[in-house]
Amino acid sequence: MSEPRTVHVDLAGRGYDIAIGPGLIDRAGALSAGLLAAPRVTIVSDETVAPLYGKRLAASFRNAGIKAALVTVPAGESSKEFASFARLMNDLLDSRPDRKSTLVALGGGVVGDLTGFAASVLLRGLDFIQVPTTLLAQVDSSVGGKTGINTRHGKNLVGTFYQPRLVLADTAVLDTLPRRELLAGYAEVAKYGLIDDPGFFAWCEKNGAAVLAGDAAARTHAIEQSCLAKARIVAADERETTDLRALLNLGHTFGHALEAETGFGPDLLHGEAVAAGMAMAFDLSVRLGLCPAADAQRVRTHLADVGLPMRLRSIGGDNRRVWDAVRLIGHMRGDKKAEDGKLAFVLARGIGGAFVSREVDETVLHDLLVDAVAA
Ligand SMILES: NC(=O)c1ccc[n+]([C@@H]2O[C@H](COP(=O)([O-])OP(=O)(O)OC[C@H]3O[C@@H](n4cnc5c(N)ncnc54)[C@H](O)[C@@H]3O)[C@@H](O)[C@H]2O)c1
Ligand SMILES: [Zn+2]
Repeated sequence: MSEPRTVHVDLAGRGYDIAIGPGLIDRAGALSAGLLAAPRVTIVSDETVAPLYGKRLAASFRNAGIKAALVTVPAGESSKEFASFARLMNDLLDSRPDRKSTLVALGGGVVGDLTGFAASVLLRGLDFIQVPTTLLAQVDSSVGGKTGINTRHGKNLVGTFYQPRLVLADTAVLDTLPRRELLAGYAEVAKYGLIDDPGFFAWCEKNGAAVLAGDAAARTHAIEQSCLAKARIVAADERETTDLRALLNLGHTFGHALEAETGFGPDLLHGEAVAAGMAMAFDLSVRLGLCPAADAQRVRTHLADVGLPMRLRSIGGDNRRVWDAVRLIGHMRGDKKAEDGKLAFVLARGIGGAFVSREVDETVLHDLLVDAVAA
C-alpha cells in the first residue's frame, strides 16, 4: 500500500501530523502505537459510523497490541447537547480509562468536537486521536483544535482549544458518505482556494467532479491542500486572536444566517449554507466595487456545477420557505462573530483575495439580500 500523504500542523509543543490516504483505518494501530502514553484506547463513534468502521478500527489497534474499547453516541448534532455529553462522560468512565489512556474520535465533526471536548476535560485531560469520516471533518473540523458542544444559547458555545496527537483521514471511508454530506464538505474545500489560493480554486474547477466521484488521487490532493491551508492559518493564529483565522469564515456570516433561518436542521446542511454564503460574499464584494464580477460568476458557476444549491428558493425540499432580507440581517447580528453589533464579513478582491471587513454599508447588504431572496 502506498504511503499516506502527511501534513504537519506546526504548533509549539503541540504539533501533530495529519495522515491522508485510502485504507488508513486498517493502519491506525501501527501509525499511532508510538504516540500512545499506554497501549489503551477508547474509540468514540456514532451509531451510523460504528457499524461501518468501528470493528475494523478496533481490530487495527488490537493487531498492534493496543487494547481498544468502543463507545457509541446517536448520530447527529443532538449528540453535542449537554445531556448527551454527560452521558458520554459516564460511558467513558465505565470503560475505566486512566490518565494514560487515549480517546479516538471515529466519525464526522459531531463526534470529533464531542470527543475532543471530552478528552480535554476527562480526568483533567487525555490524549486524543481523530479519525474523521466525513469530508467536512477531514478538511475542516479535525484541523485546528476547536472542540465543543452546544447549549440553548447556540452552537459550540462551550468548548476548548485542544489539539489531537494525530489525525488519520482515510479517503476510502468517504465512499459510504451520503452524496449530500460529501458535497457539503466540498464547499469547505473550495473555500480554501477562494480565500488565498487561486491556483487551488482553478484545480477545483477542473477536478472537483473527480473528487466527488471518488477518484482516490484527487481526493487525497484536495484533502491535503485543504489541511495545508487550514494548518497554515491555524499555526499563525491558533486562538483566533487576529483576523487571519477569521478568513476561514468566508461565506459563514451569510451561511449562518441561512442556517439560523432553517433552524440548523436537515433542510440546509452547514456546507450547503457556506456554499450559498460564499457566492453571496462574492456578490457583495462586487456590489461594493471591490471584486470583478467575472470572479463572482466563476464562484457561482463552479459551486452550482458540482451540485451545491445556489438559489435560496431551491433550499428546503418540501419545506420551501419564504426568505426575508431583514430577518436574515437580524440573524447576522445575533451571530457570535458580530462584535458590538457590527457585522463582520469576509469579502474578496477576487478569487484568492479574501479579507475581513467590518465596514459594510448595510443598504448595499440589504439590497443584495432582497435580490437574493427574489432570485
Ligand atoms: N471544530 C471545528 O473547527 C469545526 C469546524 C466545522 C464544523 N464543526 C462541527 O462539525 C459538525 C458537523 O460535522 P459533519 O458535517 O461531519 O456532521 P456529522 O458528524 O453529523 O456527520 C454527518 C452524518 O454523516 C454520517 N457519517 C459520518 N461519516 C460517515 C461515513 N464515512 N459513511 C456514512 N455515513 C457517515 C454521520 O453519522 C452523520 O449522520 C458540527 O457540529 C459543527 O459544529 C467543527
Ligand atoms: Zn464551516
